[in-house]
Amino acid sequence: MAQSVLQGRSVLLVIGGGIAAYKSAELVRLIRKAGGDVRVILTRAGSQFVTPLTLASLTGNKVQEDLFSLTDEVEMGHIELSRAADLVVVAPATADLMAKAANGLANDLASTTLLATDKRILMAPAMNVRMWLHPATQRNLARLKQDGVRFVGPDAGEMACGEFGPGRMAEPAAILEAISAALAGSTVIPMPDWQAPAASAGTGPLAGRHVLITAGPTHEPIDPVRYIANRSSGKQGYALAEAARALGARVTLVSGPVTLPDPAGVHVVRVETARQMDEAVEQALPADIAIFAAAVADWRVQDEAGQKLKKDGKAIPPLLLTENPDILARIARHPNRRPALVIGFAAETEKVVDHARAKRLRKGCDIIVANDVSPAGGVMGGDRNIVHVIDGQDVVTLPEMTKTEVAAALMQRFAGLARSGT
Ligand code: C5P
Repeated sequence: MAQSVLQGRSVLLVIGGGIAAYKSAELVRLIRKAGGDVRVILTRAGSQFVTPLTLASLTGNKVQEDLFSLTDEVEMGHIELSRAADLVVVAPATADLMAKAANGLANDLASTTLLATDKRILMAPAMNVRMWLHPATQRNLARLKQDGVRFVGPDAGEMACGEFGPGRMAEPAAILEAISAALAGSTVIPMPDWQAPAASAGTGPLAGRHVLITAGPTHEPIDPVRYIANRSSGKQGYALAEAARALGARVTLVSGPVTLPDPAGVHVVRVETARQMDEAVEQALPADIAIFAAAVADWRVQDEAGQKLKKDGKAIPPLLLTENPDILARIARHPNRRPALVIGFAAETEKVVDHARAKRLRKGCDIIVANDVSPAGGVMGGDRNIVHVIDGQDVVTLPEMTKTEVAAALMQRFAGLARSGT
């Protein structure tokens, strides 16, 4: 799996200063073994722990260290360096590198590259446990996640400094897995336009709150050209994202493949499969309100074929399925970052309210919004909806409305609950 994704891809590895830098040499070896090319930027502090010569030998490429190196600028300018790769990986990501990246500082080659790149960034933090848990680092972490940076680790355990806790860099094999996952998704991050000033930014009942929404179907590949899908259009989830934005929230919309345009002022992360959606949701945490409106495929093909399946006159290929992660249930029971309000959707074709009540308990969410998707109603793919809002006690049925109106009514309700701390 890792091999096929990395084959022929290029990773720009930024190595910061920390004892974990020695593990980055092993990471280089693993990426190359999986067929990837590696270019290294070594910070001044990083070169105290691992030498440029070691890294040049392992990568087969010149190691970049200086922002103002005339030779390097002639060979490959630092802007080009930041864009030529498919993925930028920072390992170890020190507290200093995270702080610089979170604040847009650019005073050396590593930080300039992180600011200039148009590619996805994956960070593997490594630092002393107190530095990791310091509010400043946690603030920087949250800011970087908002900016679309992905993270792997840190692990908890005994540290080189003798203390115990979170702060150890993830193992090279785990970083390799995270690299494969990042490369499997889109490599160009759309500029998060929710950072641009918008009419409703900073005002409204959800100002200062982060609302996370999933929408659309997922596509589960059978082979490189075929997939299993469903009829979800994503309209209700997109309408919810717009409604949350209109109430002043910062909104992350994790969307399966749909034909809808990105809602203005919303940070959209596009994914294809349930597993990518699960990972994107995890990366988007923490959130104050999480709404799971996506029609996630319950199953995926167990052994996705690497090449197109051929009709060669032999037996019809059987499709063996395996279960996908239940994203809603996982987030509703998240050990440390459960959003204060977790909302699921239930698409039912019979006994709508009864089934939805049972689902609320099974999934562990606070509210289930149930709708009747019998073909006669035309809800799936259509513009109108009738929903029942089910919490611990009550069932409130809203009148038939457009999906935009349903979204506005639901978000008003959720904003009220979030404010009252329910
Ligand atoms: O179990 P069912 O698919 O009916 O549950 C629907 C709810 O669970 C929706 O909110 C949907 O977004 C969510 N879900 C999920 N991950 C899955 C399956 C469903 O988040 N794998």
